[in-house]
Amino acid sequence: MKKTVIIQGSSKSYGNTHKVIAYLNSNNEFDIVDLKTKNIGFFDYDFNNSNDDFIPLMEEIIAKYDTLIFATPVYWYSMSGTLKVFFDRLSDLLHYKKELGRQLRGKNMAMISNSGANDLKDGFTMPFKESANYLGMNYIGDVHAWFTNDESNLTEEAKENLDNFKKSL
Ligand SMILES: Cc1cc2nc3c(=O)[nH]c(=O)nc-3n(C[C@H](O)[C@H](O)[C@H](O)COP(=O)(O)O)c2cc1C
Repeated sequence: MKKTVIIQGSSKSYGNTHKVIAYLNSNNEFDIVDLKTKNIGFFDYDFNNSNDDFIPLMEEIIAKYDTLIFATPVYWYSMSGTLKVFFDRLSDLLHYKKELGRQLRGKNMAMISNSGANDLKDGFTMPFKESANYLGMNYIGDVHAWFTNDESNLTEEAKENLDNFKKSL
């Protein structure tokens, strides 16, 4: 059984975030979940969307994986909206699915960001670190990837950083 899942949170299934994941997963050793293919609604205080894809997805992730790697583009200096909606929905696990939420404790979290340049702003990683801390997960690191000027390829430096990140997992 594979123990690490990469959770892709981009508005484009086969855009730059996918390129970063494809580079990291060249040996096909990780499973990938593309949040764009899931029907996951905004957090709702009345839990009216409790029957969408979120809970079954979390049941599968929690059962199968020890390490969750979030992959996000930088959109407006933050994680993508797709991924933020997913994080907001983790609140469901603090209410009507507490037992499921507790099973996140002791699992590992990591994060891969990407944008056009090597200029990730201070604070970008904070929501990931603090969320891991709140959920009792171990935050094991992050890496930022960026692209050549025409955005067609990862830069050599970003590839090296991704290689080192992978070794550190
Ligand atoms: C809505 C939107 C907002 C963006 N905001 C930023 C930003 O704040 N800083 C930045 O460096 N790049 C920004 N970008 C560029 C993306 O981070 C970059 O193109 C990324 O590689 C796109 O990944 P994707 O193809 O998976 O969406 C933005 C792109 C989009 C579409």
